[in-house]
Amino acid sequence: MNEQQQFDTMVNIMKPEPHKILSVTHETQAEFTFRVAFDKPTHNGQFCMLSIPKVGEAPISISGKGDGYVEFTIRKVGRLTQGVFDLREGSTLFLRGPYGHWWPVEETFAGEDHHLLIISGGTGLAPVRTTLNYFYNNPDQIASLYLISGFKDVSGALFNEEREKWSKAEKFHTIYTLDASEAPGFETGMVTAHISKVPFDSFGDNYNVAIVGPPPMMHFSALECMKLGVPEDKIWVSFERKMSCAVGKCGHCKINETYVCLEGPVLHYPKARTLFD
Ligand SMILES: Cc1cc2nc3c(=O)[nH]c(=O)nc-3n(C[C@H](O)[C@H](O)[C@H](O)COP(=O)(O)OP(=O)(O)OC[C@H]3O[C@@H](n4cnc5c(N)ncnc54)[C@H](O)[C@@H]3O)c2cc1C
Ligand code: FES
Repeated sequence: MNEQQQFDTMVNIMKPEPHKILSVTHETQAEFTFRVAFDKPTHNGQFCMLSIPKVGEAPISISGKGDGYVEFTIRKVGRLTQGVFDLREGSTLFLRGPYGHWWPVEETFAGEDHHLLIISGGTGLAPVRTTLNYFYNNPDQIASLYLISGFKDVSGALFNEEREKWSKAEKFHTIYTLDASEAPGFETGMVTAHISKVPFDSFGDNYNVAIVGPPPMMHFSALECMKLGVPEDKIWVSFERKMSCAVGKCGHCKINETYVCLEGPVLHYPKARTLFD
């Protein structure tokens, strides 16, 4: 093969490819779930770079997956997300990825005598949705799963039908909470106020904690867990940093010497605690 032929066969991992939007679900006024045709293997907690030519590009977590598709639950906040909200079923969305380190679901979290606590804040429920559904569909792989999922108010609550389904699952224990208001099916107060309800003492040594949400929420949730005796090496968090290339080239995601796009977004807490601003 000559040099030109070698160059022609090189794979450009930065090149966004067109993918068809299969359906759009309105979760809340500001958050929609887009189901997109996609057939590459993915892991729970990974993300893709979504783009629209001449509009922009942004990292978005994979919130669902199935045969021939992935889902993205997107909060409309700026240029790219507004552009995606203008798309419809049948439209084309550009993607590259999947990227990043994932929740160690099968490697560490799963086990018939293992317990898992998931704490999410707001849209942070999206990056753990595939993990929740993994254990919902494979109940023999977990002893118990606790979910504490907080929202600002009831109008921002995501995945209503699925949350109800998880609440009814035999091994699931769910606490849904609103920051300062009341609504049927919800407790009131920040997620940190509910962590003490988790029976860590009955878990022995076999448990892990996964936390995802805004950085202060993750920081204070981890501190609350540790106050209750959880060792820091049982805690995992997912960091949403500003990203541009997602492949360790541009430095946009870099905190100290850590490239969050490569080593994250899911990080073990002993490493993550050095990265909070
Ligand atoms: C690994 C990872 C996973 C993620 N997963 C998800 C997910 O599942 N769902 C989701 O909704 N989001 C997710 N995000 C966040 C998402 O990537 C960002 O919200 C992204 O910035 C959206 O791009 P945008 O072009 O729409 O918004 P941008 O235009 O980048 O705006 C983002 C925010 O910055 C503000 N802003 C923009 N420009 C300026 C300026 N000049 N001055 C001041 N403020 C400004 C905007 O008001 C807005 O609040 C994830 C991020 C990471 C890193
Ligand atoms: S996003 Fe470019 S180095 Fe991480």
